[in-house]
Amino acid sequence: MVDRAIGIFDSGIGGLTVLKEIIKIMPCENIIYYGDTAHTPYGNKSPETILNYSRRIIKFLILKNVKLIVIACNTVSANCFKKLQQEFEIPIIEVLSAGVNSALATTKNKMIGIIGTESTIESHAYKKYMLDIDKSVKVIEKACPLFVPLAEEGWVENKIAYDTAKIYLDEFKETKIDTLVLGCTHYPLFINCIKKILPDVNIVNPAENTAMNVRNYLAAKKILRNNGNSEVIFFTSDNPKKFMQVCNKVLNKNNYDAQNFVQQVLD
Ligand code: DGL
Repeated sequence: MVDRAIGIFDSGIGGLTVLKEIIKIMPCENIIYYGDTAHTPYGNKSPETILNYSRRIIKFLILKNVKLIVIACNTVSANCFKKLQQEFEIPIIEVLSAGVNSALATTKNKMIGIIGTESTIESHAYKKYMLDIDKSVKVIEKACPLFVPLAEEGWVENKIAYDTAKIYLDEFKETKIDTLVLGCTHYPLFINCIKKILPDVNIVNPAENTAMNVRNYLAAKKILRNNGNSEVIFFTSDNPKKFMQVCNKVLNKNNYDAQNFVQQVLD
């Protein structure tokens, strides 16, 4: 059981920001990552479509014999987590609760901004979850849809990325938020632009707490892999070559080569 891989998925490269945190604190875990690049972005799709895509990926990961699945996507977490959890027996960890808990632990003035895809923001999942825990928080939500295609292109620090971030985030300056949740796993890639625009705001990346949740779960079940070399395989539904280029950039590693990237169309 210990040697079985952790399955991680996202619509594309965004989940790599979660993978990065998982590798950081669990370097010996074997990992199978699925990026649904043929269908990205998920953030402008209907909840039914997102559920169907996610189901197919989870079935694929189960066939790969993973021991746990991480939904490294806020859009899926916000719209489908409960349904997927009911449908499948395999343990599933999502990213939204990690973001909520980090934000509530970080804010001092209880004014929190959430940025995410259109679908995540329209679901109000973050806001509802936060208000369930603490009715006194004020939550300001904002969809930033252009971040995902920019990130998939690897454009996260150039002028276009900065200008886009500025257009989306300037309005937070009019508010008194002291904490901003990056409610899409693609968004931590824009951290430098975001910090330049909102230098006095605490930025919450749910990926960090998600990785801790994964480790705690595996440790509690005594299935944490503590030693030995690990293997990471990336499956994508389209264009694994392009995925490899962006992936190595995001992970700051050049040790993944073409053998680690496999095209896998699901039906
Ligand atoms: N990275 C995903 C998220 O966290 C999906 C973004 C998208 O495909 O629109 O929401």
